Amino acid sequence: MTKPFKTLDDIGEVSGKRVLVREDLNVPMADGRVSDDTRLRATLPTVTELADRGAIVLLLAHFGRPKGVPTVEMSLAMLTEPYAAVLGREVRYIDWEGADEAVSTLQPGDIAILENTRFFGGEERNDPDVVARFARLGDLYVNDAFSAAHRAHASTEGLAHVLPAFAGRAMEAELIALEKALGNPEHPVAAVVGGAKVSTKLDVLKHLVGRVDHLIIGGGMANTFLAARGVNVGKSLCEHDLASVADEIMAAADRADCTVHLPYDVVVAKEFRANPATRTVNVHEVAADEMILDVGPAAVESLGDVLKNCRTLVWNGPLGAFETPPFDVATVSLARTAAALTQDGSLVSVAGGGDTVAALNQAGVADQFTFVSTAGGAFLEWMEGRELPGVAALTR
Ligand code: 3PG
Repeated sequence: MTKPFKTLDDIGEVSGKRVLVREDLNVPMADGRVSDDTRLRATLPTVTELADRGAIVLLLAHFGRPKGVPTVEMSLAMLTEPYAAVLGREVRYIDWEGADEAVSTLQPGDIAILENTRFFGGEERNDPDVVARFARLGDLYVNDAFSAAHRAHASTEGLAHVLPAFAGRAMEAELIALEKALGNPEHPVAAVVGGAKVSTKLDVLKHLVGRVDHLIIGGGMANTFLAARGVNVGKSLCEHDLASVADEIMAAADRADCTVHLPYDVVVAKEFRANPATRTVNVHEVAADEMILDVGPAAVESLGDVLKNCRTLVWNGPLGAFETPPFDVATVSLARTAAALTQDGSLVSVAGGGDTVAALNQAGVADQFTFVSTAGGAFLEWMEGRELPGVAALTR
């Protein structure tokens, strides 16, 4: 398959060359430790391949949002050791001060983390001076950070215009999976869109109705759609002011022959806490003092049947308040159905977004989906059909 971007297969001889590799090392920390190293592990194929091919590997990454003000808490020095442990190799840390000199002492096969790119205010402005500052440290540029590709920053976009630019292995895998899921998918296609609020995913919904055959709406946002259809949702989280937008989305879906699936039975409780008294009721039976916290079992079963007839699934957001038991049941159950169909070879399943990955991990099926993206904002922008500047800059 010809790819619209160059990869490490096209990079040629890298031995002795300095390769600037943009990775996303923006990992969650708790008590000074990395609490989830998924993003560190995602860098390994690219970094080890380049080092094994004799490149001098210089990692470029941001951490947090320091807005041009260097702070110890956001220094990448703190990630050097955890990263070396995940990589199983020695890793150097290079501060911006004296970076040229430090880089010049590195040998083929060496790996170094450069300091937080956002310590330069011009990084986020894609300032040509900052692009040039980074570029002079390297001979080649590899972007492996899909999850930062929605940012048109110096290290995610600008560099691709001044150095020979290639997609890293993680970026390559991500772009291939996303193309299969929405770019050029096998139909019928289903999308699961969940999460608390419609307002954060309006553009996602508007884009999807024109591309998928089944739009499954869950989470708090389903309440807004139910309310727009005249259902009394009691005390449920609901954006009543978005009723007309919900109507427009449903009308657009109708025109595009996209079936919108809203829950017809739901799990309700009077309090939102772990293990309260619950009832499973038809959506028309929610009492004024109750809130909808999960999709009911009958709806989940029929959603499973929808997936059985689909060839492609793209999933973003949980169906219920999955972090609070027992309101994870619908998400876990539908995720397991999707995983089983994927394992049987009948479904290509691609999921992404922060909560989604956590939900699939909770269901124990993250490794049984075709592809799970660790990107947050970038995955959403991609689901909105927007061009990601970091990806566009790599496209031939
Ligand atoms: C992320 O964590 O989603 C990426 O690293 C992008 O971070 P940002 O939202 O601060 O640009």
